[in-house]
Amino acid sequence: MHPALAADLDRFDQLLDAARARAGAALRGLAERPVAAPAPGAPGPYEPLPERGRGGAAALARFGERWEPGFSGSAGPRYLGFVTGGATPAAVAGDWLVGAYDQNAAAGGDSAATDLERETVGWLRELFGLGPEHTGAFVSGATMSNVAGLAVAREWLGERLGVSVADAGAGALGEVTVLSGAAHSSVSKALSLLGLGRDALREVPLLPGREAVDVDALADALAELGGRPAVVVANSGTVNTVDFDDLRAVAALRGRFPFWLHVDAAFGAFAALSPAHAHLVAGLDAADSVCVDLHKWLNVPYDAAVQFTRRQDLQLRVFRNTAAYLAQPGDDPDFVHLTPENSRRLRALPAWLTLAAYGREGHREVVERNVALARRFGERLESAAGGALRLLAPVRLNVVCFTLAAEPTRERVAAVAAAAAAGGEVVVTPTVYGGTHGLRAAFSNWRTGPEDVDRAVDALVAAARGV
Ligand SMILES: Cc1ncc(COP(=O)(O)O)c(C=O)c1O
Repeated sequence: MHPALAADLDRFDQLLDAARARAGAALRGLAERPVAAPAPGAPGPYEPLPERGRGGAAALARFGERWEPGFSGSAGPRYLGFVTGGATPAAVAGDWLVGAYDQNAAAGGDSAATDLERETVGWLRELFGLGPEHTGAFVSGATMSNVAGLAVAREWLGERLGVSVADAGAGALGEVTVLSGAAHSSVSKALSLLGLGRDALREVPLLPGREAVDVDALADALAELGGRPAVVVANSGTVNTVDFDDLRAVAALRGRFPFWLHVDAAFGAFAALSPAHAHLVAGLDAADSVCVDLHKWLNVPYDAAVQFTRRQDLQLRVFRNTAAYLAQPGDDPDFVHLTPENSRRLRALPAWLTLAAYGREGHREVVERNVALARRFGERLESAAGGALRLLAPVRLNVVCFTLAAEPTRERVAAVAAAAAAGGEVVVTPTVYGGTHGLRAAFSNWRTGPEDVDRAVDALVAAARGV
C-alpha cells in the first residue's frame, strides 16, 4: 500500500474527527456565514495535480484554506434563492454514513441497502398520500425524476401504438404532444434528453391571474388531438407563485381523452403534510407518474429526489439492463433495471434517517413553519418597505414573489438582489412574472425562523432604497 494511504488507514479515526470538527464549526456558524460567498474565485489560479499527495490531514487543512472560505451559506436560514432547503442533523449524519458504508444500491443480494431504499420509498409514498400501486426509486433530483416519469410516459405512448420505444427509438412515435400549463424548465430539458424534443411541449392557457392550468382549455387542447394519445404534465407548486393545477379535474379528463398524467410536485407535494394545505395536492394519487424532490423540502443534502409510477412494467422496459453478470428482473426488480444509473449511491439513507428521527410530525412542523414565515415575509415587505417593494402575487404557500414598486427593470431588480446578497444577509432569485421583472424568496429550510425573515426583509428594503 502507498505509504500515505497506509498512514491514513492507521489514522482513519483522527481524520474523520478532523473532518467532524471542521463540519461542526461550519454548521455552528451557518446562520452567520455570508449567504453568498464573498469572493467566488478567491482560491486563485488553478493548481496542478499533485504528484505526491499530502495525506488526508494536510489535504483537509488545504481544503480549509483554499476552498472552504468561498463556500456560501446556501444550507443556512436566509438563503431564499431557488427552492433550496438545507439538511437536518439526522440527514447530514446519514449522508456521512452513505460515504462510510459506500454501498452500491443497484442490486440486492449481498446487502440490505436496497431493502432500506424500498422501505424509504414506502415511507415517502405514505407521506405524500400515494397508494401501494405507486412504486418508486431514488434519483439525483427533480430533473431526473421528471426524466424518469416522462420516459415511462414515452413508453406508454409506444404501447398505445403497439411499439416498444425502448427498442425502436422515439422516432417510432411520430408526432408527440406534451401539454402543460406552467411547466418547469426541467420538463423541456427532459423532453430534449428523451428524444421527444423541446418542441413537443405545448403551453396550455392558465386561469386568469394564476399559474394553474385552465382545465377547460386543457380539455380543448386534448380534443384537438382527435384521439391521439398525449402526455399531460400537471404542476403542483410552480416556482414563481406556488400555484397548483386542479389534479382531480385534470385526472377526470382521462375519461374523455387518452393521456398519461405526469405530476411535477417537486416541492408542492409537501403541502400534503399540512392539513390546512393538503387539498392543494388532492388527486396526486391519480397520477401515472409523480416527481418529488427531496433535497428541497425534505431537507436532505444534495442530491436526492424520488420518482413514482403506476407502471413499473413500462419503467422496466425503459431502464432494464441486460448483462450476463446481472440478475434478470423478477417480480421486484433491482434498481439497476428501474433507474437511469447502473451503480448508484444509497441516497435513501439520509431520507430514511430524517424520517426516522423526526417523523411525519417533525417534517410537518418544518412545512407549516416555512409557510407561516413566507406569509410573515409578505406582510412585512408590504408594511416595512415604505412603498419601495410590492408583492407581485399573493403568497400561496412558501414562495414570495415581489418587485420594486417603481421602475422594476431587469437591471434595477437584479441590483436589489445583488446588493442584498453582497451584504451577506439574504439570497433571493430574479424572475419574470406576468411580464414584470421581480424576485422570489423561497422558504424551505428547516432552520429558518422569524428573526431571519426580519433580517432578510430589512436587507432587501435597504437595497431597494439604494437602487
Ligand atoms: C417544480 C420544479 N420541478 C423541477 C425542478 C428541478 O429540480 P432539480 O434542480 O432538483 O433537478 C425544480 C427546481 O427548482 C422545481 O421547482
